Amino acid sequence: MAHYRAAGNIPPKRHTQHRSESGELYREELMGEEGFSSDSSLLYHVGVPSAVLEARTWVLPDQSTKPNEPLLPRHLKLHELFADKDRDLVTGRRLVLGNGDVRLSYVVGEQTSPLYRNATGDECVFIESGEGVLETVFGHLPFGPGDYLIVPRATTHRWVPNGPVQAYCIEANSHITPPRRYLSRFGQLLEHAPYCERDLRGPSEPEVREEEPTEVFIKHRGSGPGGLTGSVHVVPRHPFDVVGWDGCLYPYAFNVSDYEPITGRVHQPPPVHQVFEGHNFVVCNFVPRKVDYHPLSIPVPYYHSNVDSDEIMFYVDGDYEARKGSGIAKGSITVHPGGHSHGPQPSAIEASIGVHEFDELAVMVDTFRPLELGEGGQACDDGVYAQSWTAEPWTESE
Ligand SMILES: [Fe+2]
Repeated sequence: MAHYRAAGNIPPKRHTQHRSESGELYREELMGEEGFSSDSSLLYHVGVPSAVLEARTWVLPDQSTKPNEPLLPRHLKLHELFADKDRDLVTGRRLVLGNGDVRLSYVVGEQTSPLYRNATGDECVFIESGEGVLETVFGHLPFGPGDYLIVPRATTHRWVPNGPVQAYCIEANSHITPPRRYLSRFGQLLEHAPYCERDLRGPSEPEVREEEPTEVFIKHRGSGPGGLTGSVHVVPRHPFDVVGWDGCLYPYAFNVSDYEPITGRVHQPPPVHQVFEGHNFVVCNFVPRKVDYHPLSIPVPYYHSNVDSDEIMFYVDGDYEARKGSGIAKGSITVHPGGHSHGPQPSAIEASIGVHEFDELAVMVDTFRPLELGEGGQACDDGVYAQSWTAEPWTESE
């Protein structure tokens, strides 16, 4: 994220003495990507950011995966994964799909999470429903339905829901950014991009907490399933001890309702719906929009075989035109793997002709390496979706 922000109390010159009113030096920390060669921020701590009192293992939620074999398109019903909301948005996640580049998990919870740091990559958490505050070392980000929260790798944070929250978590092994083609060579969002800097919400002023000592749960590269291991660090003071920061690396929020859809006379391909990208995957969203206006247009997609990707669609809201007759509903995921052509259920094609608007909201993740099923994905697989292109035709009265 190359958009500069500054918050709180920072010195006029970087890497110079910065003292409290009582004369104590603040500890300057540079948090930066790709060594010292990409975006970074400078944070000024009251305490010592590297201090650790104790360390122990955190047993992560099951991160094991099973290949999608035999190769099949699948319908996963996420709303069946949780019978209650008695958990937090970090330790309660259930892994739905994953590979060596990205993991997709789902959680329903209302408890405050522990302090958490994902050291494997950036997280993009989409809020399906509910509201609360994402508290971070940079400051706070209130969130609500339709928000994407982008949390850079190794940002210490915790989730404080205000009531039940349903969250779809995209955990990368890399960084998650706006698509490069949306950006100028110096990083500004260009005129053709479907959103701009004004649509991105940064953190509030940082807040210094006095509680001590405190535990921080860390997910990091390691020897466990998926190449992941968890650790807990006990630190001598609360990590929210930053008096000020500035730079181009920080958590931010973007609401899907601020995405301005790009439409055309004939069907526009999914890249016009792209919102973010990471290494070997992209994130797109399908938002309510006017649809194709050529007099002979067919608004639902043509059949397509994305030979280089698995396509994972999470249906959030509305009425998804192309999937009518397949049992897809809010909270559904479809898995359309590479090597299998997919498209509308047959009766949906005629039904879409003459439609002027789609009232749908879906978040899509396309991965360039095959995804495997996590324990959560296996637990909510409907087992029959692959038959939905050959079953009895859908009619409006059904
Ligand atoms: Fe597709």
